[in-house]
Amino acid sequence: MKKRPIVILGAMDVEINYLIDTIGPCRKEEIGMWRFYEGNIGDWPAVVVETLMGSVNAAVPTAFAIQKYDPICLITQGTAGAHHVDIHSRDIVIGETVAQSDFRETGTRPEGGGSDVSKWQYPGSEFLEEGRHVMRTRLRSDPSLVRLAQNVPYKNGHLVTGIIASGDMWNREADVIHEYRQRFGSECEEMESFAVLQVAKAFGVPALAIRIISNNELIPGEEYDRDIGVLGQQYVLDVARAIIEEHKK
Ligand code: 5AD
Repeated sequence: MKKRPIVILGAMDVEINYLIDTIGPCRKEEIGMWRFYEGNIGDWPAVVVETLMGSVNAAVPTAFAIQKYDPICLITQGTAGAHHVDIHSRDIVIGETVAQSDFRETGTRPEGGGSDVSKWQYPGSEFLEEGRHVMRTRLRSDPSLVRLAQNVPYKNGHLVTGIIASGDMWNREADVIHEYRQRFGSECEEMESFAVLQVAKAFGVPALAIRIISNNELIPGEEYDRDIGVLGQQYVLDVARAIIEEHKK
C-alpha cells in the first residue's frame, strides 16, 4: 500500500532550509507561487512546504498539500515572538491551542476618541460543521500529536505546552502584548498556525502547531534572531520521526 506522507509547513527559508536538506534529495513541485519539497524521513515520505509569510499564504498551500498528498498529518512550525518575560529565545512552544488574534471587532468610539485595545472583541473565523455555521477563535492541535511532541526531548531551551496567538500582525507595543497575553493566555505569537489548523479542520486532517521563540519584544537584547530557526527544525524533525514511528504501529 502506498505510504501517505507527513507534511511539514514553514513560512521562511530559515524555517525550512534544514528540513529540506535533511529529507533530501528532494523533488520540487510548484503550484502557483508555492513550493513543495518531496523527500523522505528514513523510509517514510515527507513533504516540506514553503508557505511564505502570513495567514492567506499559509492557507492556500495547506489546502493544496491536503488534496495532493492525502497526508497522515500536518505540522505547522517556525519562529515566534514571546508574549511574556518568562519565555525566551530558543524555548519551544507546543501549540496545544492556537487562538486567532486578528479577526477583530473594535469597540465603538467617536472621532477623536482614540483607540482602546481592551474593548476589542475576537469573534473568530467561520466554520461549517455538519451544516451549522460556527465561529471559532480557538483551534486545537490534535491531542495525540501534542502528547507525542511532549515526549520528544529538547536540549536548547524549555519545552512549553500552551497557547499560540496567530494573526497577520507583529506586535512590538508592550501594552498590546500584555493585552494579548491576558486575552488569549498566549505564550507567543506568529502568523500562520491558525490558518493551517483552520484548513486542516475543514478537511478533517490531524495537525500540530510547534514554534520556536526567535524574539521577545519585552526584553531588550532578545531581538529577532534568524539563526534560531534551525534549532526549531531539528526538534520538529524529531517530532516527525516520533509521529512516523507511532503511525507504523
Ligand atoms: N510576531 C509575529 N510573527 C512573528 N514571526 C516571528 N516572530 C514573530 C512576532 N514577534 C514569524 C511569523 C511570520 C514571520 C514574520 O515570522 O510567523 O512568518
